[in-house]
Amino acid sequence: MTRIATLIEVAPRDGFQPIGPFIPTDEKIILIGAAYKAGLQRIEIGSFVNPAAVPQMRDTAEVLRRSNWPGFDPQVLVPNAKGVELALEAGARHLVYVISASDAHNRSNVRRDVAISMREYGEVLAGLPAGIAIRLNLATAFDCPFEGRMSQELVLDRLGRMLEYRPDVEVGLCDTTGRADPDHVTSMAEACLRRWGRETTFVFHGHDTYGLGLANIVAAWRSEISRFDVAFGGLGGCPFAPGATGNTATEDAVWMFHRMGVETGVDFHAMLRIAVRAAALPGASAGGRVRAALAQA
Ligand code: COA
Ligand code: ZN
Repeated sequence: MTRIATLIEVAPRDGFQPIGPFIPTDEKIILIGAAYKAGLQRIEIGSFVNPAAVPQMRDTAEVLRRSNWPGFDPQVLVPNAKGVELALEAGARHLVYVISASDAHNRSNVRRDVAISMREYGEVLAGLPAGIAIRLNLATAFDCPFEGRMSQELVLDRLGRMLEYRPDVEVGLCDTTGRADPDHVTSMAEACLRRWGRETTFVFHGHDTYGLGLANIVAAWRSEISRFDVAFGGLGGCPFAPGATGNTATEDAVWMFHRMGVETGVDFHAMLRIAVRAAALPGASAGGRVRAALAQA
């Protein structure tokens, strides 16, 4: 049976957030709309965070309102209860709640200890209206820019406590720094699927900072994870994780999976055009390989 790899596009959030010059809302809509038309049904279109912390995301409510194509599933990142409230007010139906596994990164990112974020997440789940899909993004699940390699035991323990609130969520295992390696990904993926695989769906969210983005995706794929976060043009990087660069490029992942005979439902050539346009955004630092390889071909 052919397995299908599901790609979730995160450039409009993870990729745009570190870009200094404001990307006009019209340009965001053009890129998101083109990615949707290229076959990416699910796109993280922005975040409801303090605009003083991440000014690039300040138009997320408008981007959400204008991303209303048939069958489109826009998700938005939220870091706290206030973000959930603003997202629901703006009409969001799919939330990505971010908590770091490491205390140091959680404090840098959302200015509170993990224990406080976990409690708030539990309260949010208890009050969530029916029909709102929730994903939990576990940032620094492998490695922290401040604490280094994370103890897998600690990460699993914290994740376990969050899944006790509600196990039937999607969990993003996020390699925020890009310092995970394929063996580490295999070990985490297998441990998570063994413990929670029946009720919880896992996504691998990788960064290509050290050139291991695709290798880590393959490791997750071989461990039976089949959902991946990717970003067109290889854009990305958390402003609160020093040194982290872009997510694994969507076009690289599509290229690889198609060569492996794995379906993604994404039109590669359309994706490549989007990647070229995104890489040219003022202030963007793009990544990935196939864009350059094919420009020279
Ligand atoms: N969206 C928009 N505004 C928010 C908000 C949210 N989710 N949460 C809080 N605010 C506002 C508050 O209303 C308050 O506004 P005011 O100054 O006008 O009164 C201000 O932000 C500070 O609120 P406070 O609760 O004290 O937050 P904080 O200063 O402790 O910051 C976060 C906490 C989470 C809001 C902030 O650290 C943040 O937005 N981080 C962004 C993280 C991020 O996007 N990382 C990259 C993706 S992983
Ligand atoms: Zn990321």
